[in-house]
Amino acid sequence: MTKSAEEFAKLLTKSIRAIAAHQSVRIQDIQHEIGQAAGRRGGTAIEHWRKGYFPRRTRDVEKLTHELAQRGGFINREEAEQFLLSAGYPDAAQLSNQLFPQENQPLDGEISPFIIGWPIIEPRHFFGRDYEVKLIFDLLRRPPMQNIALIGARRSGKTSLLHYLKNIPTASPESLRPNQWGNRLPNPEQYQWVFVGFEDPRMGIRVRLFRHLLDGLGIPAQVDNLYDFLDAISENLARPSIILLDDIGAGLAAPELDQEFWWSLRSLSSNQTQGKLAFILTASQSPQQLAEKHGKPSPFFNIFGHLLTLGPLTENEARELMLSSPHPFNEIDKAWILAQSGGWPTPLQILCHLRLVALEHGQQDDSWQAEALQQIAPLQSLTNS
Ligand SMILES: Nc1ncnc2c1ncn2[C@@H]1O[C@H](COP(=O)(O)OP(=O)(O)O)[C@@H](O)[C@H]1O
Ligand SMILES: [Mg+2]
Repeated sequence: MTKSAEEFAKLLTKSIRAIAAHQSVRIQDIQHEIGQAAGRRGGTAIEHWRKGYFPRRTRDVEKLTHELAQRGGFINREEAEQFLLSAGYPDAAQLSNQLFPQENQPLDGEISPFIIGWPIIEPRHFFGRDYEVKLIFDLLRRPPMQNIALIGARRSGKTSLLHYLKNIPTASPESLRPNQWGNRLPNPEQYQWVFVGFEDPRMGIRVRLFRHLLDGLGIPAQVDNLYDFLDAISENLARPSIILLDDIGAGLAAPELDQEFWWSLRSLSSNQTQGKLAFILTASQSPQQLAEKHGKPSPFFNIFGHLLTLGPLTENEARELMLSSPHPFNEIDKAWILAQSGGWPTPLQILCHLRLVALEHGQQDDSWQAEALQQIAPLQSLTNS
């Protein structure tokens, strides 16, 4: 399904009605409550959205869906996914999986808090990276905001970190773990964040990318060429805005995103937006080298003065993740998981999941470890680095 105002309005209305019926309260009261919880002043935002006007920012769609799901506004994962798709949300499958974790477990009936295979979208599933997060928010606290490149191997946690940066500033305390750090920005509501996942081939088509960026920046202009796109941003950008470019290697491989395109992003960042626009990119290696490899060397990549390389989680961070197991692990298991995963989030999640499943099947010995080692074997390049 693609973005559809009609479908969005219909599904939102259905969800609100279901919650009102279920809780035996008036529609207006539920709209008011959800509007407030989603960071709005009251029910009028929901009224407006129910007429088929989409929330302006991706984060608003996320929050709204989260609040509806929390109150039983969707029958199942599919319904939440349909709702997200109708709103044009780019990661509908991932987010709905995280809102309904019990429906995507490989084993019957098991509920695991450990997420494998998808990037983390909900901040409460995200652990660690304290050093990187603090450093990044320090660079975004005041203008001119600075550009940052996050470098890391596949599955080191780059995409998850981008989602976390975007979502944590406005996450409500109830949606976080007890004791989890929340916002670290002044006036978090004023910031606009746009996530561009170049894994999605649509982001490699200029006009679609322009539409996605302008949508995310709350600029209603319709543009079909680079010059109008640049004008629209430089003339209209009022709030501090951060564009997250995930997997720049895939972006550089897209034929339409040529040297002229990357040049123009540089001019946007430096001259025309008075320090109100910053980019954070992710890449598997230095962006300049990647650009040269694709025959598109560009001064755009020189503006990334801050290079952060993602390593494993610290021992304390990895231990915090292990502590989230609903069935506690003993110290011997924890030490084994730490040693085998090297603290890298992907093998850590896999090992925690398998340990939990074994415990839930009453398995106290260490026979689960052989299969676990097999499952993380393909990640050896991470764990040996
Ligand atoms: N901060 C984190 N906390 C918990 N798990 C994480 C974290 N970062 C990554 N992961 C785990 O690692 C996996 C790969 O992360 P992802 O962000 O997709 O990596 P990349 O984008 O570098 O390929 C996720 O599915 C998740 O299981
Ligand atoms: Mg990724």
